[in-house]
Amino acid sequence: VSRLTDLIARAKAKDPELGADLDREFKVLSSRLPFGLNFERHRPEAVELPLRPIRKGDKVRVLPERGSTKKGDQRLWQVKNIHKANKLADLELLGGAEIETQSIALVDLTVVAEFRDTIYPGLVSTGKVERGGEKPFHTVINGENYHALKALTYTHRGKVDAIYIDPPYNTGAKDWKYNNDYVEGDDLYRHSKWLAMMERRLLVAKELLNPADSVLIVTIDEKEYLRLGLLLEQTYPQANIQMTTIVINPLGQERSRKLARVEEYAFFCFFGNASPKPMIDDLLNRTEIMKGHKSDRSTEKVRWERLLRGGSEASRQKSPDLFYPVFIDPIRHRVHSVGEPISLDVSRDSVSAPEGTVTVWPMRTNGQEGRWRCSAAYFRELLTKGYARVGEYDRANDRWSLLYLGKAQIRRVESGEIEVFGRNDDGSILLGRSEQKKQMFSVKTVWNRPSHRSGEYGTSLNRLLVPGRRFPYPKALYAVEDALRIVVADKPQAIVLDFFSGSGTTAHAVMRLNRQDGGSRQCISVTNNEVAADEQKSLRERGLRPGDPDWEKHGICDYITKPRVEAAITGKTPDGEPIKGEYKFTDVFPMAEGFEENAEFFTLTYEAKDAVNHNLAYSRIAPLLWLRAGARGSRIDKLPADGLAVADTYGLLVEVDKSAQFIKAVGKAKGVHIVYIVTDDDRRFQAIAKRLPDAVEPVRLYESFLTNFSFANGE
Ligand SMILES: C[S@@+](CC[C@H](N)C(=O)[O-])C[C@H]1O[C@@H](n2cnc3c(N)ncnc32)[C@H](O)[C@@H]1O
Repeated sequence: VSRLTDLIARAKAKDPELGADLDREFKVLSSRLPFGLNFERHRPEAVELPLRPIRKGDKVRVLPERGSTKKGDQRLWQVKNIHKANKLADLELLGGAEIETQSIALVDLTVVAEFRDTIYPGLVSTGKVERGGEKPFHTVINGENYHALKALTYTHRGKVDAIYIDPPYNTGAKDWKYNNDYVEGDDLYRHSKWLAMMERRLLVAKELLNPADSVLIVTIDEKEYLRLGLLLEQTYPQANIQMTTIVINPLGQERSRKLARVEEYAFFCFFGNASPKPMIDDLLNRTEIMKGHKSDRSTEKVRWERLLRGGSEASRQKSPDLFYPVFIDPIRHRVHSVGEPISLDVSRDSVSAPEGTVTVWPMRTNGQEGRWRCSAAYFRELLTKGYARVGEYDRANDRWSLLYLGKAQIRRVESGEIEVFGRNDDGSILLGRSEQKKQMFSVKTVWNRPSHRSGEYGTSLNRLLVPGRRFPYPKALYAVEDALRIVVADKPQAIVLDFFSGSGTTAHAVMRLNRQDGGSRQCISVTNNEVAADEQKSLRERGLRPGDPDWEKHGICDYITKPRVEAAITGKTPDGEPIKGEYKFTDVFPMAEGFEENAEFFTLTYEAKDAVNHNLAYSRIAPLLWLRAGARGSRIDKLPADGLAVADTYGLLVEVDKSAQFIKAVGKAKGVHIVYIVTDDDRRFQAIAKRLPDAVEPVRLYESFLTNFSFANGE
């Protein structure tokens, strides 16, 4: 050891960076357990950022000529100078034994971010779909997941309830890249590269998970499940880890001199108090074995819909007849009575509530007056029949929800298709066996269900949503739905993250769960804009390069993920055609109905630390502030001209002299639970924070906005 320490000290004297790298690797090795997983951490990963403009000081690569399919010069250069007039950059070779320089046209360079570099991430919105009224937005982020995860440590530290990831399986068949190179079957370092890539991300993911109660699910197949299992144990010693086997292709994949494979695996890592929730299906046994449980539609979970109408059409002005008070008894958790609609010139404050009741109006979280979905008379009729009830109480927004059965569900109840088991305490009917707790089962560690077949419910289903757009091996929608149900069935407001989101199956599954129980879970999907290997070749031959609009539009995120999530919500394909086919299993309905959900699409950006344009720097972090506040309602996209702004869920104070006015405005706004105060002066920040309402979390921002979001890797 002393010999090694001595050598490292000598290396440090010659080249401090090289010395520090050696030192770190040596420490890792010397602290390693004699048993377990030993692997090279590899030099820090690096990604090319083709969309990022070239700046002085950047690390860059020189691109091969247009039309060439060669790999080109892989060395890293530093930009020493930029000549704006003739669009050239002076470069110096990094890490070379001799000093080497050259001048290259800016258009032939691409910026490279090494993972040990400090980055300043931002987000730019590239579109959105809104059909979910006040529900939070699902988000899809196009970007390198390691950097996106780092950015999420600002917005979601300790807040994520479930992570579902389906990383590249490392098949050797060009299914992923390390440092811009496909990792092929004959690469001696194939496994350790994969482990190094996974470990870096799992460590950041851990910072996002709620340590008291959350679950991380990772799917994998035979190629890496052994190593992944060890890596998870080593990375998450505090978690309870179990592996499930999922039959995804019962016919089996025939391969010469091998058994035909029918399954893949999912590791479940339970943190804190998290444990698997019982389900109406144990996912393995035949239904008669599951103690008389019948799998006909009478046992399906019945969907109660929200009485509050969502969407932009849902204002009081448009339908005054649907603006009436509902008085509820909060102690007994039932509707006391239903009032009459009030005309537009009457204020709702003039209506008094019967004693002991709380008045519920169709109010939107942005404080505007909305409307119910049905008339007061019809709602009373539903209550008498037991087809309506009080839903959950949203403590954060001090709101009660009201639920009712839609016409289709009522038909199924009245035809006897759905069994009625009696009445709940509030008079509403008790439906389906799923509502009876004693009929729930522990899910088994082997799943064998037709709904998990990846060909039918992954590839073919995806084809219906985005016809003609090929994505390799999407997961079966219903398999992801089942995996998530096990972990977030009892969390209607769960935050779910998928940072290898591919075609967006996880977001889709979260929307299905929401529809089944009236939840408002939100999904954050991150995926890069990789173009499939065979397609890359033909695009290069056509003279295109990453970063060109005609290249990027074929990338997974822009070509598949965002359009698929949009199609799922709108019920229409990217060409505007209603989606053919219907959802199956737990919740059957035409896909063309879509979902009452919201989603916004973003691209991750890399900003310059010393951004001179304050407005631009702010606009890139604006989505991060909104995400941290819960991704709901309005967003403050521009620096407010008068120094302060209050959105639906958060506030922003830019000029601290206006603090009195700001505190007043925050006090008045109902849904605000976080405020950002821009100041470099700690004492002023503390003084303002003290005067804010208790329920509001103050967060300080530095005046140079981007420094709030600097993420160094520490590698
Ligand atoms: C196996 S696929 C996930 C498929 C997904 N579960 C589905 O059902 O469609 C893995 C995805 O992760 C993406 N990916 C791989 N490495 C990534 C990285 N470093 N950053 C972001 N995305 C990455 C790939 O582009 C690919 O789409």
